[in-house]
Amino acid sequence: MTTSLISTASSPSPGTSTSPGTAPKGTIELRNVTKTYGDVVAVDRLDLMVQPGEFVTLLGPSGSGKTTTMMMVAGFEEHTGGSVLIDGQPVDRLPPRERNLGVVFQNYALFPHMSALENVEFALRMRKIPRNERRKRAEEALDRVGLGKMGDRKPRQLSGGQQQRVALARALVFNPAALLLDEPMAALDKRLREQMQEEIKTLQKSLGISVLFVTHDQDEAMAMSDRIVVMKDGRIVQSGAPEEVYNEPLTDWVASFLGDTNLIPCTVLERDGQEVLVDLGCLGTARMPDRGVTGDKYAVSIRPEHLKFRSSATEGNGGAARLESSTNLGATVRHRLTAGGLDLQLRELSSDAADRPVPGSEVFVGWTPGRAQLLVLEQ
Ligand SMILES: Nc1ncnc2c1ncn2[C@@H]1O[C@H](COP(=O)(O)OP(=O)(O)OP(=O)(O)O)[C@@H](O)[C@H]1O
Ligand SMILES: [Mg+2]
Repeated sequence: MTTSLISTASSPSPGTSTSPGTAPKGTIELRNVTKTYGDVVAVDRLDLMVQPGEFVTLLGPSGSGKTTTMMMVAGFEEHTGGSVLIDGQPVDRLPPRERNLGVVFQNYALFPHMSALENVEFALRMRKIPRNERRKRAEEALDRVGLGKMGDRKPRQLSGGQQQRVALARALVFNPAALLLDEPMAALDKRLREQMQEEIKTLQKSLGISVLFVTHDQDEAMAMSDRIVVMKDGRIVQSGAPEEVYNEPLTDWVASFLGDTNLIPCTVLERDGQEVLVDLGCLGTARMPDRGVTGDKYAVSIRPEHLKFRSSATEGNGGAARLESSTNLGATVRHRLTAGGLDLQLRELSSDAADRPVPGSEVFVGWTPGRAQLLVLEQ
Protein backbone atom coordinates (compact mmCIF):
# COMPACT_ATOMS: atom_id res chain seq x y z
CA MET A 1 0.00 0.00 0.00
CA THR A 2 1.30 3.46 -0.85
CA THR A 3 -1.55 5.55 0.50
CA SER A 4 0.30 6.93 3.50
CA LEU A 5 3.23 7.89 1.32
CA ILE A 6 1.04 9.71 -1.17
CA SER A 7 -0.92 11.68 1.38
CA THR A 8 2.32 12.72 3.11
CA ALA A 9 3.75 13.90 -0.19
CA SER A 10 0.67 15.94 -1.08
CA SER A 11 0.08 17.70 2.22
CA PRO A 12 1.36 21.25 2.58
CA SER A 13 4.29 21.33 4.98
CA PRO A 14 3.61 22.44 8.56
CA GLY A 15 3.27 26.17 8.98
CA THR A 16 2.15 26.88 5.41
CA SER A 17 -1.57 26.94 6.11
CA THR A 18 -3.21 30.36 6.27
CA SER A 19 -6.18 31.87 8.01
CA PRO A 20 -8.51 34.14 6.02
CA GLY A 21 -7.19 37.59 5.31
CA THR A 22 -3.72 37.08 6.76
CA ALA A 23 -1.90 35.57 3.76
CA PRO A 24 0.48 37.83 1.86
CA LYS A 25 -0.26 38.76 -1.76
CA GLY A 26 0.05 35.95 -4.23
CA THR A 27 -0.92 32.89 -2.21
CA ILE A 28 -2.96 30.22 -3.97
CA GLU A 29 -4.36 27.42 -1.89
CA LEU A 30 -6.43 24.41 -2.83
CA ARG A 31 -8.05 22.54 0.03
CA ASN A 32 -9.31 19.05 -0.66
CA VAL A 33 -10.48 20.09 -4.14
CA THR A 34 -12.32 17.51 -6.23
CA LYS A 35 -13.82 17.66 -9.71
CA THR A 36 -15.92 14.93 -11.22
CA TYR A 37 -17.49 14.76 -14.67
CA GLY A 38 -20.13 12.02 -14.34
CA ASP A 39 -18.12 8.91 -13.46
CA VAL A 40 -14.76 10.53 -14.29
CA VAL A 41 -12.81 11.83 -11.29
CA ALA A 42 -10.64 14.45 -13.02
CA VAL A 43 -9.19 15.90 -9.79
CA ASP A 44 -9.24 13.90 -6.59
CA ARG A 45 -9.01 15.63 -3.19
CA LEU A 46 -6.14 17.91 -4.10
CA ASP A 47 -4.27 19.89 -1.42
CA LEU A 48 -1.84 22.44 -2.79
CA MET A 49 -0.27 25.68 -1.61
CA VAL A 50 1.59 28.21 -3.76
CA GLN A 51 3.54 30.69 -1.63
CA PRO A 52 4.04 34.35 -2.60
CA GLY A 53 6.70 34.59 -5.32
CA GLU A 54 6.90 30.82 -5.73
CA PHE A 55 6.98 29.11 -9.14
CA VAL A 56 5.06 25.86 -8.84
CA THR A 57 4.64 23.47 -11.76
CA LEU A 58 1.99 20.82 -12.17
CA LEU A 59 3.65 18.04 -14.14
CA GLY A 60 1.87 14.91 -15.26
CA PRO A 61 0.82 12.82 -18.23
CA SER A 62 -2.14 13.65 -20.46
CA GLY A 63 -5.43 13.36 -18.58
CA SER A 64 -3.89 13.62 -15.10
CA GLY A 65 -6.04 16.66 -14.18
CA LYS A 66 -3.63 19.57 -14.68
CA THR A 67 -5.88 21.77 -16.83
CA THR A 68 -8.93 20.95 -14.73
CA THR A 69 -7.02 22.12 -11.63
CA MET A 70 -6.04 25.38 -13.34
CA MET A 71 -9.59 25.97 -14.60
CA MET A 72 -10.94 25.64 -11.07
CA VAL A 73 -8.36 28.06 -9.68
CA ALA A 74 -9.12 30.53 -12.50
CA GLY A 75 -12.86 30.13 -11.95
CA PHE A 76 -13.68 28.77 -15.43
CA GLU A 77 -14.82 25.46 -13.92
CA GLU A 78 -16.75 24.88 -10.73
CA HIS A 79 -15.32 22.29 -8.40
CA THR A 80 -17.38 19.44 -7.02
CA GLY A 81 -15.88 19.64 -3.53
CA GLY A 82 -13.32 21.50 -1.45
CA SER A 83 -12.26 25.13 -1.57
CA VAL A 84 -9.92 27.47 -3.47
CA LEU A 85 -8.37 30.40 -1.59
CA ILE A 86 -6.44 33.34 -3.01
CA ASP A 87 -4.53 35.49 -0.57
CA GLY A 88 -6.25 33.57 2.18
CA GLN A 89 -9.79 34.37 0.99
CA PRO A 90 -12.16 31.73 -0.40
CA VAL A 91 -12.94 32.61 -4.02
CA ASP A 92 -15.31 29.76 -4.76
CA ARG A 93 -18.18 32.13 -5.47
CA LEU A 94 -16.20 34.73 -7.40
CA PRO A 95 -16.28 34.92 -11.23
CA PRO A 96 -12.88 34.68 -12.99
CA ARG A 97 -12.48 38.43 -13.44
CA GLU A 98 -12.75 39.08 -9.73
CA ARG A 99 -10.12 36.55 -8.74
CA ASN A 100 -7.25 38.87 -9.67
CA LEU A 101 -5.29 36.18 -11.53
CA GLY A 102 -3.42 36.64 -14.79
CA VAL A 103 -4.15 33.72 -17.10
CA VAL A 104 -2.36 32.39 -20.19
CA PHE A 105 -3.87 29.17 -21.45
CA GLN A 106 -2.82 27.37 -24.58
CA ASN A 107 -6.24 27.84 -26.16
CA TYR A 108 -6.86 31.30 -24.74
CA ALA A 109 -6.12 33.13 -27.97
CA LEU A 110 -5.65 36.81 -28.71
CA PHE A 111 -8.48 38.68 -30.45
CA PRO A 112 -7.46 38.66 -34.13
CA HIS A 113 -9.21 41.93 -35.04
CA MET A 114 -7.49 43.91 -32.25
CA SER A 115 -3.91 45.20 -32.29
CA ALA A 116 -1.41 43.91 -29.73
CA LEU A 117 -1.95 47.05 -27.66
CA GLU A 118 -5.74 46.77 -27.83
CA ASN A 119 -5.52 43.14 -26.78
CA VAL A 120 -3.58 44.14 -23.67
CA GLU A 121 -5.86 47.11 -22.99
CA PHE A 122 -8.86 44.85 -23.18
CA ALA A 123 -7.93 43.23 -19.86
CA LEU A 124 -8.05 46.70 -18.25
CA ARG A 125 -11.27 47.68 -20.02
CA MET A 126 -12.92 44.60 -18.51
CA ARG A 127 -11.79 45.84 -15.11
CA LYS A 128 -13.23 49.31 -15.71
CA ILE A 129 -9.91 51.16 -15.63
CA PRO A 130 -10.28 54.72 -17.10
CA ARG A 131 -9.29 55.12 -20.74
CA ASN A 132 -6.24 57.43 -20.31
CA GLU A 133 -4.70 55.18 -17.68
CA ARG A 134 -5.41 52.08 -19.79
CA ARG A 135 -3.27 53.14 -22.71
CA LYS A 136 -0.28 53.99 -20.52
CA ARG A 137 -0.39 50.76 -18.57
CA ALA A 138 -0.86 48.64 -21.69
CA GLU A 139 2.15 50.28 -23.31
CA GLU A 140 4.23 49.63 -20.20
CA ALA A 141 3.17 45.98 -20.15
CA LEU A 142 4.12 45.51 -23.82
CA ASP A 143 7.45 47.18 -23.11
CA ARG A 144 8.07 44.77 -20.28
CA VAL A 145 7.79 41.79 -22.65
CA GLY A 146 9.99 43.49 -25.27
CA LEU A 147 7.21 44.44 -27.69
CA GLY A 148 7.02 48.18 -27.04
CA LYS A 149 7.40 48.95 -30.74
CA MET A 150 4.87 46.41 -32.01
CA GLY A 151 1.71 47.65 -30.31
CA ASP A 152 0.01 48.48 -33.62
CA ARG A 153 0.40 45.03 -35.11
CA LYS A 154 -2.44 42.56 -35.35
CA PRO A 155 -1.76 39.04 -34.01
CA ARG A 156 -1.39 37.65 -37.57
CA GLN A 157 1.50 40.09 -38.11
CA LEU A 158 3.37 38.66 -35.12
CA SER A 159 5.38 35.45 -34.74
CA GLY A 160 4.20 32.69 -32.41
CA GLY A 161 6.63 33.79 -29.70
CA GLN A 162 5.58 37.42 -30.02
CA GLN A 163 1.89 36.46 -29.75
CA GLN A 164 2.74 34.50 -26.64
CA ARG A 165 4.41 37.58 -25.19
CA VAL A 166 1.32 39.70 -25.93
CA ALA A 167 -0.75 37.10 -24.06
CA LEU A 168 1.70 37.37 -21.17
CA ALA A 169 1.51 41.18 -21.19
CA ARG A 170 -2.29 40.93 -21.15
CA ALA A 171 -2.11 38.59 -18.15
CA LEU A 172 0.27 40.89 -16.25
CA VAL A 173 -1.18 44.32 -17.05
CA PHE A 174 -3.64 44.53 -14.16
CA ASN A 175 -1.01 43.56 -11.54
CA PRO A 176 -2.57 40.22 -10.70
CA ALA A 177 -1.96 38.43 -7.41
CA ALA A 178 -0.58 35.45 -9.35
CA LEU A 179 -0.16 34.04 -12.85
CA LEU A 180 -1.71 30.82 -14.13
CA LEU A 181 0.13 29.47 -17.17
CA ASP A 182 -1.22 26.29 -18.79
CA GLU A 183 1.23 24.99 -21.41
CA PRO A 184 1.76 28.54 -22.64
CA MET A 185 4.56 27.50 -24.99
CA ALA A 186 3.20 24.28 -26.43
CA ALA A 187 2.85 25.79 -29.92
CA LEU A 188 6.42 27.09 -30.10
CA ASP A 189 9.43 25.31 -31.58
CA LYS A 190 12.19 24.11 -29.27
CA ARG A 191 14.56 27.06 -29.59
CA LEU A 192 11.86 29.71 -29.12
CA ARG A 193 10.42 27.70 -26.29
CA GLU A 194 13.71 27.71 -24.42
CA GLN A 195 14.07 31.44 -24.99
CA MET A 196 10.54 32.07 -23.68
CA GLN A 197 11.22 29.86 -20.66
CA GLU A 198 14.12 32.08 -19.70
CA GLU A 199 12.13 35.26 -20.36
CA ILE A 200 9.19 34.12 -18.26
CA LYS A 201 11.51 33.09 -15.44
CA THR A 202 13.34 36.45 -15.52
CA LEU A 203 10.08 38.38 -15.58
CA GLN A 204 8.64 36.30 -12.75
CA LYS A 205 11.70 36.91 -10.57
CA SER A 206 11.82 40.65 -11.27
CA LEU A 207 8.10 41.05 -10.48
CA GLY A 208 8.24 38.62 -7.55
CA ILE A 209 4.93 37.17 -8.72
CA SER A 210 3.65 33.69 -7.84
CA VAL A 211 3.13 31.34 -10.77
CA LEU A 212 1.15 28.15 -11.11
CA PHE A 213 2.43 26.55 -14.28
CA VAL A 214 1.37 23.46 -16.23
CA THR A 215 3.48 21.34 -18.51
CA HIS A 216 3.95 17.74 -19.46
CA ASP A 217 7.51 18.48 -20.53
CA GLN A 218 9.85 17.35 -17.73
CA ASP A 219 12.81 19.44 -18.96
CA GLU A 220 10.65 22.56 -18.89
CA ALA A 221 9.47 21.70 -15.38
CA MET A 222 13.04 21.10 -14.19
CA ALA A 223 14.28 24.35 -15.74
CA MET A 224 11.59 26.70 -14.47
CA SER A 225 10.19 25.53 -11.16
CA ASP A 226 10.89 26.22 -7.52
CA ARG A 227 8.69 23.22 -6.84
CA ILE A 228 7.34 20.42 -9.02
CA VAL A 229 4.03 18.79 -8.19
CA VAL A 230 3.77 15.47 -9.99
CA MET A 231 0.18 14.48 -10.81
CA LYS A 232 -1.29 11.16 -11.81
CA ASP A 233 -4.98 10.26 -12.11
CA GLY A 234 -6.11 13.52 -10.54
CA ARG A 235 -3.89 13.15 -7.49
CA ILE A 236 -0.53 14.43 -6.32
CA VAL A 237 1.99 11.60 -6.18
CA GLN A 238 5.03 13.66 -5.19
CA SER A 239 5.89 17.28 -4.59
CA GLY A 240 9.27 18.90 -4.01
CA ALA A 241 12.15 20.94 -5.43
CA PRO A 242 13.09 19.79 -8.96
CA GLU A 243 16.36 18.15 -7.84
CA GLU A 244 14.59 16.45 -4.96
CA VAL A 245 11.88 14.91 -7.14
CA TYR A 246 14.45 13.89 -9.75
CA ASN A 247 17.03 12.51 -7.32
CA GLU A 248 14.68 11.08 -4.73
CA PRO A 249 11.58 9.75 -6.48
CA LEU A 250 9.20 7.95 -4.14
CA THR A 251 7.86 5.43 -6.65
CA ASP A 252 9.02 3.73 -9.84
CA TRP A 253 6.33 5.65 -11.69
CA VAL A 254 7.74 9.04 -10.65
CA ALA A 255 11.31 7.85 -11.34
CA SER A 256 10.42 6.75 -14.86
CA PHE A 257 8.17 9.72 -15.62
CA LEU A 258 10.93 12.16 -14.71
CA GLY A 259 13.77 10.79 -16.82
CA ASP A 260 15.43 7.44 -17.42
CA THR A 261 16.33 5.20 -14.56
CA ASN A 262 17.55 1.71 -13.72
CA LEU A 263 15.01 -0.04 -11.52
CA ILE A 264 16.53 -2.99 -9.70
CA PRO A 265 13.96 -5.12 -7.85
CA CYS A 266 15.16 -5.80 -4.32
CA THR A 267 14.23 -7.25 -0.95
CA VAL A 268 14.59 -5.26 2.21
CA LEU A 269 16.78 -7.19 4.66
CA GLU A 270 16.97 -4.69 7.50
CA ARG A 271 15.78 -1.15 8.20
CA ASP A 272 16.02 1.04 11.28
CA GLY A 273 14.54 4.36 10.13
CA GLN A 274 18.00 5.73 9.34
CA GLU A 275 19.30 3.18 6.86
CA VAL A 276 18.02 0.22 4.90
CA LEU A 277 19.98 -2.82 3.83
CA VAL A 278 18.68 -4.35 0.61
CA ASP A 279 19.44 -7.46 -1.42
CA LEU A 280 19.84 -6.66 -5.13
CA GLY A 281 20.40 -10.21 -6.34
CA CYS A 282 23.42 -10.42 -8.62
CA LEU A 283 24.30 -6.80 -7.83
CA GLY A 284 24.93 -7.73 -4.20
CA THR A 285 23.65 -5.99 -1.12
CA ALA A 286 23.63 -2.26 -0.50
CA ARG A 287 22.91 0.21 2.27
CA MET A 288 21.09 3.46 1.62
CA PRO A 289 19.19 6.14 3.51
CA ASP A 290 15.78 5.03 4.81
CA ARG A 291 13.30 7.62 3.50
CA GLY A 292 10.38 5.83 5.12
CA VAL A 293 8.72 4.66 1.88
CA THR A 294 6.55 1.64 2.47
CA GLY A 295 4.88 -0.69 0.02
CA ASP A 296 4.41 -4.30 -1.03
CA LYS A 297 7.25 -4.40 -3.54
CA TYR A 298 10.49 -2.44 -3.63
CA ALA A 299 13.13 -1.47 -6.12
CA VAL A 300 16.30 0.55 -6.04
CA SER A 301 16.49 3.37 -8.55
CA ILE A 302 19.87 4.39 -9.98
CA ARG A 303 19.93 6.99 -12.74
CA PRO A 304 22.01 5.97 -15.79
CA GLU A 305 24.39 8.87 -15.15
CA HIS A 306 25.05 7.53 -11.64
CA LEU A 307 25.94 4.00 -12.68
CA LYS A 308 29.70 3.70 -13.23
CA PHE A 309 32.17 1.22 -14.67
CA ARG A 310 34.38 -0.24 -11.94
CA SER A 311 37.76 -1.86 -12.32
CA SER A 312 36.95 -4.71 -9.93
CA ALA A 313 34.07 -6.30 -8.04
CA THR A 314 35.60 -5.36 -4.70
CA GLU A 315 35.20 -1.62 -5.25
CA GLY A 316 32.09 -0.67 -3.21
CA ASN A 317 28.51 -1.45 -4.34
CA GLY A 318 27.62 -3.29 -7.49
CA GLY A 319 28.60 -6.42 -9.35
CA ALA A 320 29.42 -8.10 -12.63
CA ALA A 321 27.59 -7.28 -15.85
CA ARG A 322 27.96 -7.79 -19.57
CA LEU A 323 28.31 -4.80 -21.89
CA GLU A 324 25.83 -5.32 -24.73
CA SER A 325 26.14 -2.11 -26.74
CA SER A 326 27.54 1.42 -26.67
CA THR A 327 25.96 4.29 -28.59
CA ASN A 328 27.53 7.70 -28.99
CA LEU A 329 24.80 10.35 -28.68
CA GLY A 330 27.10 13.34 -29.17
CA ALA A 331 27.59 14.82 -25.73
CA THR A 332 27.07 11.48 -23.97
CA VAL A 333 27.56 7.77 -24.60
CA ARG A 334 24.77 5.34 -23.71
CA HIS A 335 25.87 1.86 -22.70
CA ARG A 336 23.41 -1.01 -22.45
CA LEU A 337 24.31 -3.81 -20.07
CA THR A 338 22.81 -6.97 -18.64
CA ALA A 339 23.34 -8.27 -15.13
CA GLY A 340 21.61 -11.58 -14.44
CA GLY A 341 18.25 -11.16 -16.15
CA LEU A 342 18.31 -7.39 -15.68
CA ASP A 343 18.74 -4.74 -18.39
CA LEU A 344 20.77 -1.75 -17.26
CA GLN A 345 21.68 1.58 -18.79
CA LEU A 346 24.84 3.53 -18.03
CA ARG A 347 25.48 7.00 -19.36
CA GLU A 348 28.70 8.93 -19.33
CA LEU A 349 30.12 12.01 -21.00
CA SER A 350 31.70 11.24 -24.36
CA SER A 351 34.86 12.92 -23.11
CA ASP A 352 35.05 10.35 -20.26
CA ALA A 353 34.39 7.38 -22.53
CA ALA A 354 37.93 6.69 -23.81
CA ASP A 355 39.41 3.20 -23.27
CA ARG A 356 36.05 1.65 -22.55
CA PRO A 357 35.43 -2.07 -22.79
CA VAL A 358 34.01 -3.21 -26.11
CA PRO A 359 30.50 -4.64 -26.41
CA GLY A 360 30.51 -8.32 -25.52
CA SER A 361 32.96 -7.92 -22.62
CA GLU A 362 32.38 -8.77 -19.00
CA VAL A 363 32.59 -5.66 -16.83
CA PHE A 364 31.93 -4.48 -13.29
CA VAL A 365 29.46 -1.73 -12.49
CA GLY A 366 28.75 0.15 -9.30
CA TRP A 367 27.54 3.43 -7.84
CA THR A 368 28.26 5.89 -5.06
CA PRO A 369 26.06 4.92 -2.07
CA GLY A 370 24.15 8.24 -1.95
CA ARG A 371 23.09 7.82 -5.58
CA ALA A 372 20.80 4.84 -5.05
CA GLN A 373 17.26 5.27 -3.74
CA LEU A 374 14.87 2.75 -2.29
CA LEU A 375 11.41 3.26 -3.76
CA VAL A 376 8.06 1.56 -4.03
CA LEU A 377 7.26 -0.54 -7.09
CA GLU A 378 3.74 0.38 -8.19
CA GLN A 379 3.73 -0.82 -11.77
N1 LIG B 1 -15.59 18.67 -19.82
C1 LIG B 1 -15.21 17.42 -19.51
N2 LIG B 1 -16.10 16.39 -19.51
C2 LIG B 1 -15.74 15.14 -19.18
N3 LIG B 1 -14.48 14.80 -18.85
C3 LIG B 1 -13.55 15.75 -18.84
C4 LIG B 1 -13.86 17.11 -19.18
N4 LIG B 1 -12.71 17.84 -19.08
C5 LIG B 1 -11.74 16.97 -18.71
N5 LIG B 1 -12.24 15.73 -18.56
C6 LIG B 1 -11.48 14.53 -18.13
O1 LIG B 1 -10.81 14.83 -16.93
C7 LIG B 1 -9.52 14.25 -16.91
C8 LIG B 1 -8.47 15.32 -16.68
O2 LIG B 1 -8.41 16.18 -17.81
P1 LIG B 1 -7.43 17.43 -17.91
O3 LIG B 1 -7.80 18.21 -19.11
O4 LIG B 1 -7.43 18.13 -16.61
O5 LIG B 1 -6.03 16.70 -18.12
P2 LIG B 1 -4.58 17.33 -18.36
O6 LIG B 1 -3.72 16.80 -17.26
O7 LIG B 1 -4.67 18.79 -18.52
O8 LIG B 1 -4.13 16.62 -19.71
P3 LIG B 1 -3.31 17.20 -20.99
O9 LIG B 1 -1.85 17.05 -20.64
O10 LIG B 1 -3.69 16.27 -22.09
O11 LIG B 1 -3.72 18.62 -21.24
C9 LIG B 1 -9.37 13.49 -18.23
O12 LIG B 1 -9.68 12.16 -18.00
C10 LIG B 1 -10.41 14.16 -19.12
O13 LIG B 1 -10.85 13.27 -20.10
MG1 LIG C 1 -4.26 20.14 -20.15
